[in-house]
Amino acid sequence: MNFLEKLKIWQELINYKLDQALPAAQLRPEQLHLAMRHSMNAGGKRLRPILVLAAHDIFPGNIDPVPAALAIECIHTYSLIHDDLPAMDNSDLRRGKPSCHKAFDEVTAILAGDALQPLAFDILSSSYSEDPQLALDLINILARTAGSEKLVGGQMQDLLSEGSTPNEKTLSFIHANKTAAMIEASLQMGFRMGCEGQDMEKLSLIAQVGNSLGLAFQAVDDLLDVTQTSEQLGKNAHHDNESGKVTWISLKGEKQARRLAESHSENALQALVLVGGETKFLRELIEYMLKRKS
Ligand code: IPE
Ligand code: IPE
Ligand code: MG
Ligand code: MG
Ligand code: MG
Repeated sequence: MNFLEKLKIWQELINYKLDQALPAAQLRPEQLHLAMRHSMNAGGKRLRPILVLAAHDIFPGNIDPVPAALAIECIHTYSLIHDDLPAMDNSDLRRGKPSCHKAFDEVTAILAGDALQPLAFDILSSSYSEDPQLALDLINILARTAGSEKLVGGQMQDLLSEGSTPNEKTLSFIHANKTAAMIEASLQMGFRMGCEGQDMEKLSLIAQVGNSLGLAFQAVDDLLDVTQTSEQLGKNAHHDNESGKVTWISLKGEKQARRLAESHSENALQALVLVGGETKFLRELIEYMLKRKS
């Protein structure tokens, strides 16, 4: 099976399992559950869940990595629902569909995002209860990553910096936390499930891979915002400039931003070599993410 075939199979697997893991649309209050499903089933690349599966396969064990993959997608999708709210980025298009507050309303979007967060931890605690140490480790990685020192902190700084004079240190902080942290956590969670004993020492190496890939990923996201159309992206293009976001493009220009994405991607590949194990798919994924068009 080649890279693209495997990617597609994993995306379909994640989509199918997410659908099963979400509360039924008919549950009361229907509007809330419909909204959760609207944003979750709208698609998306499923990068983070796929990173969980790929990292698990480096040293595969007997543990099913799928629930952990679903959990991280719940947190990611909640962060997108809230990111699109008028109080934040005020975007009305997401994953090729009206964003949650447009398809429903703001109250529903806030609560749909809220509800996806505990769902992530529900999935982890109930799926890995036979190995309580593993369950605790996964919950711990995800909780810390989603919190005020990582994802939420990065989002806060992103919004605080809107309209300000760009500053390299602040921008690095934003990218590391709003984006790279979740990508790092995906790889760590996947790897934690597969590896045993001495391979555990490699957990910090896999975190380095994730950090570099995450920094490359956000640099590419910022580039796509200026080079693609809303139709191609499935979300509002040319949005960063309009809302006064600090990006590598506003700071250093398009060419330098592209170079930066390439060098972060190269760093990820180099760190991956040191991890050992089965990393072919992950290597191809890192290369693919750099060339993506949406
Ligand atoms: C968008 O993430 C938010 C960023 C961190 C740039 P993705 O580009 O992974 O969005 P989906 O999940 O494919 O919709
Ligand atoms: C959002 O970054 C990162 C999140 C944690 C949601 P962006 O605001 O650049 O993401 P998009 O471009 O709206 O997907
Ligand atoms: Mg944002
Ligand atoms: Mg946004
Ligand atoms: Mg963006």
